[in-house]
Amino acid sequence: MEPRILLLGAPGAGKGTQSKRLADAYDIEHVTTGDALRANKDMETEYGTPREYMDAGELVPDGLVNEIVNEALSSADGYVLDGYPRNLSQAEYLTEITELDAVIYLNVGEDELVRRLTGRRMDPETGDIYHTEFNMPDDDEIRERLVQRDDDTEDVVRERLRVYEDNTAPVIEHYREEGSLVEVDGEADPDTVFDRIAAIVE
Ligand code: AP5
Repeated sequence: MEPRILLLGAPGAGKGTQSKRLADAYDIEHVTTGDALRANKDMETEYGTPREYMDAGELVPDGLVNEIVNEALSSADGYVLDGYPRNLSQAEYLTEITELDAVIYLNVGEDELVRRLTGRRMDPETGDIYHTEFNMPDDDEIRERLVQRDDDTEDVVRERLRVYEDNTAPVIEHYREEGSLVEVDGEADPDTVFDRIAAIVE
């Protein structure tokens, strides 16, 4: 049985960066609600479009994300789940549909989160993530096509961190009280953080 990993952390904690590495290292699916929603930002749903919520830094309604996760997990053997659950009701739903082998919380302080998010750039062709200070591609062509995410401006970042404190911090506490949460210090270079996570998964 392949590992079923839940990676929790604030916006900018490095969930996307580390999930990609975990998916490659263990040959498991990277299930990310953020990427799934970004790929369908203008899709009309009974709740409106995902864009209306995402560009304001608010959570997209549970009904929509629960459906995305249920579908993705039902076809995955092992996976790393990134960006979900984001509130207690999503956490309850997740318990109904799957069992987890590891719940890992990437802990990063707020100043560092803001620095990482406002400097993040993405390659629209490959989805690879870079950072203006910490990690830029050598290839000129790639550098020139990098874009900033619509929700990575400072105002929206502050709102996302507020939404995280109100909705997602209680999810961390829920797993901590349950005894399944393992905390990882996420304030180191990406290789070191990966080694810390892999040691837990092993
Ligand atoms: P989502 O895409 O999930 O965004 P997020 O949780 O805010 O997380 P991020 O992707 O911003 O950060 P990350 O932790 O992945 O960090 P990354 O590795 O990129 O969600 C976006 C929106 O979608 C939400 O606001 C909401 O509207 C909606 N949504 C999604 N899921 C939902 C749900 N379940 N329910 C309702 N709505 C939902 O790293 C950040 C930067 O730091 C990068 O530039 C990277 O290069 C750099 N970096 C990473 N690690 C390091 C390191 N160790 N040292 C230095 N720099 C680093």
